[in-house]
Amino acid sequence: MNDQRTAVDYEQFIPRETGFIFKFIKKDNQFIHTFIEGKLIEKVGLCPGTVTGKSLCEFLPPDQAKRKEFFYEKAWNGEQVNYEGSFGGVHYLAILNPIIQNRQTIEVIGTAIDITGEKNREKQAQQMEKLSVVGELAAGIAHEIRNPLTSLKGFAKIVKESVTDEKLIPYLDIMLDEMDRINQIVNEFMFIAKPNENVRFQYTNVNKLLSDCIQFMGPQANLKSIEIEFESEAQISLYCDRNQIKQVLINILQNAIEATEDNGHFIRVSLEEMNADSVMVTITDKGCGISESRFSRLFEPFYSTKEKGTGLGLLTCKRIIDLHQGSIDIESQHGEGTTIRIVLPRQINAKQLLIAE
Ligand SMILES: Nc1ncnc2c1ncn2[C@@H]1O[C@H](COP(=O)(O)OP(=O)(O)O)[C@@H](O)[C@H]1O
Ligand SMILES: [Mg+2]
Repeated sequence: MNDQRTAVDYEQFIPRETGFIFKFIKKDNQFIHTFIEGKLIEKVGLCPGTVTGKSLCEFLPPDQAKRKEFFYEKAWNGEQVNYEGSFGGVHYLAILNPIIQNRQTIEVIGTAIDITGEKNREKQAQQMEKLSVVGELAAGIAHEIRNPLTSLKGFAKIVKESVTDEKLIPYLDIMLDEMDRINQIVNEFMFIAKPNENVRFQYTNVNKLLSDCIQFMGPQANLKSIEIEFESEAQISLYCDRNQIKQVLINILQNAIEATEDNGHFIRVSLEEMNADSVMVTITDKGCGISESRFSRLFEPFYSTKEKGTGLGLLTCKRIIDLHQGSIDIESQHGEGTTIRIVLPRQINAKQLLIAE
C-alpha cells in the first residue's frame, strides 16, 4: 500500500483534535505498532515514541494489554472490531479495520475517538433517572410519612415534658432526634424531586445571608473548636431564593465541619464580585479532602462516606445552583482540604423566573 496515500486518507477520516489513528502488524506472533498520530495520544499520557515499534505489553499495564490483544487478534483474523476502553481518565471508542490483500491481513488500521463527554452525560442521565424514580416514590409517600411523624413528634414532646422517670428522658431525646432525621430525609427527597416548587426570588443582601448561615452553624463548629471566618469586600445584593441559597451554604458548611478534625482549624467563607454580572462565594476548609476516586461521585444521589450521611447534600446544592443559573466547582487535595466555589449571576433570565414563580 502507498503510504503517502494512506496518510492523506487518515486526515479525512479522523477528528485529530479528539482522536488518534494507529496501525499495527503481526510479526513473530506479536502485534507491533507501526504508526500512531492524533492529539488524543498526549491526552491519555502517551506519545508516538512510546508506541511506534512497540507491542502492547511494552506500554500498557498487563491486564489492559491482554484485553486489547484479544481485539487485535480478532481484527487480524479479518473482522472489523469495535471496542470501548479507558486510559489515563479518557474513555474512547476504537475501531479496528483489517487491510486484506490476497486473503491475507497485511496490517490493521485502528481509529480511536474520545467519548469521555458522552460517557459522562450518559452517567448523569442514568443518575437523573435513578433520582426521578426515587423522587416520584418519595413525593408519593412523603405525605403519608409526614403526617404520622408530626403527631409522633408532638406526643413524644408531651411525654418528655411530663415524664417522671428521669431515666426515660435520654430515650425520648433519641426518639426526637431520629424523627428529625426522618423529617430531613423526606424533605431532601421532596426538594430534589421538585426543586422549582415554592421558589421565591427576591433581592437579597448576600452578606447578611452568609453571616446568618455562619451564625446558624456556629454552635456545631464550636463543638469541634472550629472557627468560621467570613470576609467580603463589598455589600452585595442578589436576586435569588433566600431559603434555597441558605440551604446551599448550610450543606457546604456542614460538610466542611464534618471533614475537619477537632483541632481549631479555620473554615473560610469569602464573598466577592467577580464582574458586573456575577458574584462568587468561596468556602475553604483544611479538612480531610477528597481522594481522586471519590471525586467523580460527589454529585451522585446517596453517595456518602459518612455513617449517618444521606449523600443528598451536594446534589441538593447543585440542583439549587442550577436553578439560579450559577455554577459550582470543587477543588480538593486529599489530606489537605477542600475549596468550593459557587458563582451566581446577579440577575437570572426571565424564562427561568417564569418556571420558578
Ligand atoms: N468539604 C469536604 N471535605 C471532604 N469531603 C467532602 C466535603 N464535602 C463533601 N465531601 C464528600 O462528599 C460526600 C457527599 O456529600 P453530601 O452530598 O453532602 O452527602 P453527606 O454529607 O450526607 O455524606 C461526603 O460523604 C464526603 O465524602
Ligand atoms: Mg453533607
